[in-house]
Amino acid sequence: MANVIVTGGAGYIGAHACKALKAAGYTPVAFDNLSTGWRDAVRFGPLHEGDLLDRASIDAAFATYQPIAVMHFAALSLVGESMKDPGKYWRENVTGAANLADAAVAAGCLNFVFSSTCATYGDQDGVVLDEETEQLPINAYGSSKRAIEQLLADFEAAHGLRSVIFRYFNVAGCDPDAEVGEQHVPETHLIPLMLDAIAGKRDALTIFGTDYATPDGTCIRDYVHVSDLVDAHVKGLEWLKADKGSRVFCLGSGDGFSVREVVDASGTVTNRAVPVIEGQRRPGDAAALVSGSRRAAEELGWTPQRSDIATMIADAWRWHQSEPYER
Ligand code: UFG
Repeated sequence: MANVIVTGGAGYIGAHACKALKAAGYTPVAFDNLSTGWRDAVRFGPLHEGDLLDRASIDAAFATYQPIAVMHFAALSLVGESMKDPGKYWRENVTGAANLADAAVAAGCLNFVFSSTCATYGDQDGVVLDEETEQLPINAYGSSKRAIEQLLADFEAAHGLRSVIFRYFNVAGCDPDAEVGEQHVPETHLIPLMLDAIAGKRDALTIFGTDYATPDGTCIRDYVHVSDLVDAHVKGLEWLKADKGSRVFCLGSGDGFSVREVVDASGTVTNRAVPVIEGQRRPGDAAALVSGSRRAAEELGWTPQRSDIATMIADAWRWHQSEPYER
């Protein structure tokens, strides 16, 4: 079975990608420094402990596994933190990606699948976002991801590295089998925080801002199920193997939900009350981010199966009630 290096393979999306790769007949090699990931989440192939700021550890992984492709998930991804400490984001995300791309080229591995984000678009009021929309990030997290997209274009021009870049909207839900799931320390994401509040593990969910220019005043996001998202990655890998060239794809469901709508849906799915507090806006948050892209559907043949809001919450709730990972 062909090997694929999955950076961040011990993290939330990376672990789901490893499951999907294994199901598609590949051996996923999780490359992870376990700073935020979980040893326990590496269930579908080997773990290679290494760090993207340590070039020798990346070279060692390429030499050991001779991968046909890289899927690059490892990154810092907290918008708020990136506003306070941009240097950390440029160092770890951009320098880390440069080291990885250099190592891939040196090893002759020229297929690169990259996790980018709709945070590269910034706050463009009323604009339906697709691959042609100008990227105007408003936080250092988004800037660092846009820089990596540019880096990959430069590597293609210089070295022939081919990339499929996925710009994610809000990834949610968990593996329906609950083999892997979403577990962050600290947790910052809306749905797991809400499930914690529902389960009594925290007092309440704070809604960050109720005065946005949206119908109910709370931020609107486009939520996409992690299992659908990683299926697109497998299709992206097949795209590169078929020599179809570098391409950017947005991955979202195309439907926007406000924070209040997600709160209401969680109450319905779990059949429990959701304790909420109305709080201040969180710096760096755009009012609305919704994908209008059809490209992944039309060109990759990607059809999300579980990305309706009730299924995403139900899958996350099942995982939430199972055994947590241990390090
Ligand atoms: N929110 C709250 N209360 C909370 C947490 C979140 O009201 O306690 C709100 C946020 O303000 C936002 C929405 O819920 O409007 C979703 O917030 P998340 O933190 O779950 O997700 P983000 O939209 O901030 O960020 C996520 C990923 C990023 C990615 C981004 C793209 O974490 O990596 O989506 O929008 F870039």
